[in-house]
Amino acid sequence: MSEALTLDGVSKSFGGLKVINDVSFRVPEGSRTALIGPNGAGKSTVFNLISGVYPIDQGRIQALGQDITGYTVPQRVRHGIARSFQNIRLMPHLSTLENVMLGEHHRSHPLQLVGSARATARARRALEDAGLGTYPGQVVADLPYGVQKRIEVVRALMAEPRILLLDEPAAGLNSTETKDLRLLLERVSGQGITLVVVEHDMPFVRHLCNHVVVLNFGSKIFEGTAESVSRDPLVLEAYLGSAQVMEGGHA
Ligand SMILES: Nc1ncnc2c1ncn2[C@@H]1O[C@H](COP(=O)(O)OP(=O)(O)OP(=O)(O)O)[C@@H](O)[C@H]1O
Ligand SMILES: [Mg+2]
Repeated sequence: MSEALTLDGVSKSFGGLKVINDVSFRVPEGSRTALIGPNGAGKSTVFNLISGVYPIDQGRIQALGQDITGYTVPQRVRHGIARSFQNIRLMPHLSTLENVMLGEHHRSHPLQLVGSARATARARRALEDAGLGTYPGQVVADLPYGVQKRIEVVRALMAEPRILLLDEPAAGLNSTETKDLRLLLERVSGQGITLVVVEHDMPFVRHLCNHVVVLNFGSKIFEGTAESVSRDPLVLEAYLGSAQVMEGGHA
């Protein structure tokens, strides 16, 4: 199987502190890959490195057969990489539809978006496809948190990604909202989009993901199947004291 992403010996320091240490892993094309690990392990930083928010110090990142190590953020978006952030970054006072339309901004010039019937139609269709067709005119701040999280996913889809990076999409969701999110992500995956999901909710990971990478203190300690991860001694040790994270939660 070909790779959607390959990280090869990637390292990153902030102010002399090495937060990502010689990390290599692969994300098979079309997979639903989980990137997990205790708080501060470096998961969001890895997303920042893949999406180009920060340059890497050492190593190489390949996406869909191309070396993207030197690409800017917009170049990576055009190459097919989209992401959501750990904290919701919707515009709370704009409508659902307007927020989703903002997801096009790396593909088209923002001014072309204003009043663009094509962008409006695309955003409406994307919301309908995601089961959010009843919300386009509603102000985002008035909507339940679980709906906002799914709107973020739809906004990222507006960039027409081939690889979608989601940073803790299930955080703060109740069990119904978590299930709705999982169904949406399964639908996205069914369209052939590769998913990479940072998540602490292990039952969610086990239900959704078929490939798992575990980071601890900036190093990779495991790469394999969702079935084998919770039996791995290094992983269990890393989660010691937070065993409920590996076993508890909902999906
Ligand atoms: N821009 C930055 N400047 C300095 N240190 C940073 C920066 N970004 C991340 N770090 C540090 O890198 C380490 C890894 O942080 P990161 O946010 O990647 O962890 P994480 O695995 O996403 O954790 P969590 O599960 O809590 O979200 C932390 O020690 C953090 O303080
Ligand atoms: Mg994080």
